[in-house]
Amino acid sequence: MTNDSQPRTQWLGRWGFVLAATGSAVGLGNVWKFPYMTGEYGGGAFVLVYLACILAIGVPVMMTEIALGRRGRGSPIDAIRRVSAESKGASAWSLLGWMAMLCGFMILCFYVVVAGWSFSYLWKMLTGGLAGSSVDDMAAIFGANNANPLNLGFWSTLVTLATMVIVGKGVQAGIEKSVGWMMPGMVVMLVIMIVYGAFSGGFGEAVHFLFAFNAGSLSSEGMLAAMGHAFFTLSLASGAILTYGSYLPRNASIGRTTLSVAAADTLVALMAGLAIFPVIFANGMEPGSGPGLIFMSLPLAFQAMPLGTLFGALFFVMLSMAALTSSISMVEATVSWLTDNKGISRRTAAWGVGIVLWIISTLAMLSFNVGAEWTLGGKNFFGWLDYLTSRWMMPLGGLGVALLAGFVLNGEAMREELGLPPAVHALWLFMVRYVSPLGIVVVFLDALGIATLEFGVQWPWLLLALAVITLIGEFASPRLKQTLSA
Ligand code: PHE
Repeated sequence: MTNDSQPRTQWLGRWGFVLAATGSAVGLGNVWKFPYMTGEYGGGAFVLVYLACILAIGVPVMMTEIALGRRGRGSPIDAIRRVSAESKGASAWSLLGWMAMLCGFMILCFYVVVAGWSFSYLWKMLTGGLAGSSVDDMAAIFGANNANPLNLGFWSTLVTLATMVIVGKGVQAGIEKSVGWMMPGMVVMLVIMIVYGAFSGGFGEAVHFLFAFNAGSLSSEGMLAAMGHAFFTLSLASGAILTYGSYLPRNASIGRTTLSVAAADTLVALMAGLAIFPVIFANGMEPGSGPGLIFMSLPLAFQAMPLGTLFGALFFVMLSMAALTSSISMVEATVSWLTDNKGISRRTAAWGVGIVLWIISTLAMLSFNVGAEWTLGGKNFFGWLDYLTSRWMMPLGGLGVALLAGFVLNGEAMREELGLPPAVHALWLFMVRYVSPLGIVVVFLDALGIATLEFGVQWPWLLLALAVITLIGEFASPRLKQTLSA
């Protein structure tokens, strides 16, 4: 049973939430996924769409999620149900919470496998397993690391255990401490690698690849991927940020908090790109080599730079830590829902979730060896988990959250909760009502092949559609609210 009379745990320090949310946002998404996706989808245009999605969709949705969490003081399911009820909205909105919780868990099932790669590369660094390897050796080493299910399973099991131990210990004790030194450490490591890259021949090409905008190079698939990645990298629509928001003290500023988390996250992603692509180009590697990209390229740089073994080990320590501070945030929604509603302790909840996680993540791990052939529509199990969550569930959840906040929730309640200056509040409202939903819908339609985004004739139509929807929305929303509250 939910116990509303008992005050909910809150973050300890003033920086507690910012640290934890940054820890959740900054992770493998920034250092592993962003570079390899950028490589796969052709560079600059992907980066531009990704940045646009962070600004136009990610930031407003993140503010909304934090506000929902803090106002509803509970797991995504409970918080959304309460906040919606307060505005006399339908209780069905809490389905968004269910989807978020499921989504966070599904992400975790493949995330622990990738975090396992990071841990295993740390081990290789420390034991000299990568020394003296050529470009081709690196690909072979990555392949061999995956080929043995016992080896790969060992590492993903280790990550699963570590995650559950930290989560079981509770919010403050487990999470805040590690992020405070991990984040600066990560940035320092990336700076060292960028400086190294700047002298290594591939830098100019890398900058061009990342930042030159070539509209023709981006497919519909790439647009959807960029949008999905904006959600993934900010930990949105997966219960993480919303649940962390539920521990946020009343007096903290949601606007400023969101901006610092989003800025730190974007900074780390772009820095990771600038650290990795020079190595790729300097060694004549293929940017579109897929998920193994950073593991096949970075060790080459560590080999060549002075103190490389030390830096390499430190880098993989940071990456593994960053992965853990993200993975713990993915379980938080489920654990807080279980403890609030099922009367079990945090520890029991963590271990219960951990066992299910271990089973499903083991199946995801097998996608790289014995289960490589278990495919459906060309994707293996690991691929499906990633595809369903990033491309569809998260944008859909974000759409729901934006519409809920934009059209259903009581304007006063949101104003009070967000505490933004009036002009900024108006901007936020405009974003969650029109810009974010329309952006998401357009990319969905484009990906489904229903409407095609061309950088030619079609754009004026989109602008017209935006104007029409804005007008309809402005007129319909008061009535919409009355209907829903009737
Ligand atoms: N944002 C994390 C990263 O970029 C991943 C994540 C997704 C964390 C969803 C929590 C929830 O690595």
